[in-house]
Amino acid sequence: MARLEAACQVELCEGDGEGLRRDLLTRVAGRDALVSMVTDTIDRAVVDAGDALKIIANVAVGYNNIDVAAARARGMVVTNTPDVLTDATADLTLALILAVTRRLGEGERMLRRGAWPGWAFDQLLGMQLRGKQLGIVGFGRIGRAVAARAQAFGMTTAHTSRSDAGMPLDRLLATSDVVSLHVPLMPETRHLIGQPELARMKRTAYLINTTRGPVVDEAALAWALKNRLIAGAALDVYEREPEVHPDLLALENVVLAPHLGSATTETRTAMADLAVRNVIAVLGGAPPLTPVS
Ligand code: NAP
Ligand code: GLV
Repeated sequence: MARLEAACQVELCEGDGEGLRRDLLTRVAGRDALVSMVTDTIDRAVVDAGDALKIIANVAVGYNNIDVAAARARGMVVTNTPDVLTDATADLTLALILAVTRRLGEGERMLRRGAWPGWAFDQLLGMQLRGKQLGIVGFGRIGRAVAARAQAFGMTTAHTSRSDAGMPLDRLLATSDVVSLHVPLMPETRHLIGQPELARMKRTAYLINTTRGPVVDEAALAWALKNRLIAGAALDVYEREPEVHPDLLALENVVLAPHLGSATTETRTAMADLAVRNVIAVLGGAPPLTPVS
């Protein structure tokens, strides 16, 4: 905020829900730049209301919350925050893989409710990672960073890809012990993982989603977990955040995180800094640092 305020006149839209939306639609008129968060829906109505906008700077790498085509049609630049959050999101993905395969959530809940009977030889046995296959769906910046970390745990990796000779999704689902999703949310990736895909996975396998909730059909996932079609799941993102499918909340074999992928002080600072530098560059007539392609 301080760096923006040194360069421009800044207005802050606060609140949530319909109030925030109304505030945004009113205040965006006549503004040169808009800084948005993943929770802000920047659809055609906002783009139309922002008649003077030169740039929409999203403080996130994913930009499914923005109607990029509508913005481009009005000559606006859209920027995101790639790279600076790759390590934090890959770290969180490994944290979720470890948490679900080692049953940390279940163990912590048992202990906190005073139900831990003490150490036992066969208590809460999980799955070891060494020698297991990690299937990565979407082999971009974060997918590759997750693969590098998984190799340090002794896992082998497989990935799907449109741009190189990756593994077909069906085969990756059928052969992987852990499947981790890293594709962006777009019309062709909505419900990429539904009932048929979950049924294709090994009964001993785990699904990890740190990308966007709608990439997974949440009701189908709850069904698969309840019926033990897969061993477990760990999620950072949900179809209708902040709502979580009620069946998932009741299940032991799922770890639920509240969209924490990039949530370190260092990373959020770097994301904010990159968004501000994009705004200042474009308003100064320079090219944006990280335009969405
Ligand atoms: P990226 O570098 O663009 O990687 C995404 C990869 O997905 C691309 O390299 C592409 O690889 C593949 N892909 C794209 N469209 C696809 C499609 N239709 N079908 C199959 N594969 C497709 O992006 P990133 O920086 O790794 O970020 C990935 C996503 O992570 C973001 O979009 C965001 O939604 C999510 N994210 C979440 C958090 C969080 O807080 N949980 C934090 C950061 C990011 P190929 O061309 O090789 O197929
Ligand atoms: C967070 O979800 C991001 O896309 O950066």
